[in-house]
Amino acid sequence: MTRGNIVKCGIPEPHVVTGLGAEADGQKEKKRERNHKRHKHTGRDSYVPLVHLMVSFLFFQVDLTIIPRMDKRIGMGIVGAGFVGPHHIDAVRRLGFVDIVAVAGSNEESGRRKAEQLGARKGYGNYQALIDDPDVQVVHVATPNYLHYPVISAALANGKHVVSDKPLATTSAESRQLVEQAARANVVAAVTFNYRGNPLVQQARHAITNGDIGNPTFIHGYYLQDWLIKDTDYSWRLDPEKGGASSALGDIGSHWCDLAQHVTGLRITHVLGDITTVIPQRKKPRVAREAFQEAAGAADLETVDIRVDDLASVLVRFDNGAKGVFSAGQVCAGHKNDLVLEVCGSKASICWRQEQQNELWIGHRDKANEVLQKDPSLMDSNVRGYARLPGGHQEAWADAFCNLMREIYGFIAAGERPDPATRQIFATFEDGYRSTCIVEAILDSAKQGGVWMKVNY
Ligand SMILES: NC(=O)c1ccc[n+]([C@@H]2O[C@H](COP(=O)([O-])OP(=O)(O)OC[C@H]3O[C@@H](n4cnc5c(N)ncnc54)[C@H](O)[C@@H]3O)[C@@H](O)[C@H]2O)c1
Repeated sequence: MTRGNIVKCGIPEPHVVTGLGAEADGQKEKKRERNHKRHKHTGRDSYVPLVHLMVSFLFFQVDLTIIPRMDKRIGMGIVGAGFVGPHHIDAVRRLGFVDIVAVAGSNEESGRRKAEQLGARKGYGNYQALIDDPDVQVVHVATPNYLHYPVISAALANGKHVVSDKPLATTSAESRQLVEQAARANVVAAVTFNYRGNPLVQQARHAITNGDIGNPTFIHGYYLQDWLIKDTDYSWRLDPEKGGASSALGDIGSHWCDLAQHVTGLRITHVLGDITTVIPQRKKPRVAREAFQEAAGAADLETVDIRVDDLASVLVRFDNGAKGVFSAGQVCAGHKNDLVLEVCGSKASICWRQEQQNELWIGHRDKANEVLQKDPSLMDSNVRGYARLPGGHQEAWADAFCNLMREIYGFIAAGERPDPATRQIFATFEDGYRSTCIVEAILDSAKQGGVWMKVNY
């Protein structure tokens, strides 16, 4: 398989037969021939639904394109399966050609339990055992942030592909080392800045590349949540030893910066940050909890000082001279996962809001504003493949996550590596490195009383 047929307008063609009627007749014919040769495969997921076969035979039209191709299955393992880890598994499971081989937990018992819950074949009590498993070709990392560096580094040392959740590491120095190590290992190395996978995000990106809004002049928005608004709310994200030097900014502000750069194709060059800890003391559970879990009872809590931000406001400058501003906060009531990105250009504006992700607002000066509903038939032909459902069928967070995985695994299946020319949608380790540089520059700016800082990449 060549890059030409793997990445079609940035959308990987999965190395499996996913359904009927999606391709040109000629290709369909070839696929039918290939599947006729392959129909004897008897892998775990290799099946032909009996009812379909009976009906098909009745009408003399046996269509074997529904048999998944098993010739190139890929084994994945995941380290850390709290809140986001299971979503990695759901997303790759939907691809149809990925085996969920193993889960590694923080101990043997949790590794085994999570593997059972998530339908993985094996459960490990430490990440090295998972990385050493020859059936695991791709290592996903969804642990608390401080473990990303050692886990990724160990996976790369074993020549495994890596899909890490953000941040790539807790410092830019560690991130840089991982970029270099991944390049030496010559593997696919991705970071899940997942909002890139939303169909209308790609529509906005395409419109901007196409010049539809003119030259971007002002890029603004926010990423607000409320799950840390009470002093009884606690997460490892608030412990700098585990989460890194920032909470709101590093955890969700990093998503905003990545998305702003991805959608516009611009780089953030300078930042000026105002960093706040709205809740300086919190009641921490004595026993660790996973993200979004219920609070513990009062007797199980201890009061701790908080040394990281839960609110940040940032001015930014982009490399085309555009100005920007965004806020990131986890203490803003009513905002659940409220990421807003608006790009004002010299001709029009465009705005996408995660909590209403099936709509894209387009603002005009001389005619009525528009709201584009997510509908593949109304989207640009270059990006409509990211919409997996027809108009009126709402797509969501998990679908966008799956779009990322489809493309990442497309590269892995093809033995290809992303490069700047491929315009793939997923973030690479280089993007992850740049993200940590931006966060550090904002923290430095705030530490110095709010001065402009150049981001040192
Ligand atoms: N892309 C996104 O939108 C998104 C969303 C949430 C979290 N994240 C990122 O994903 C990562 C995990 O976040 P989360 O919210 O799922 O956290 P979480 O606390 O819910 O889950 C972390 C899991 O890692 C496990 N773990 C801890 N130490 C381990 C070890 N040594 N080996 C194996 N497992 C271990 C914990 O037991 C827990 O199950 C973080 O880096 C976070 O930034 C990304």
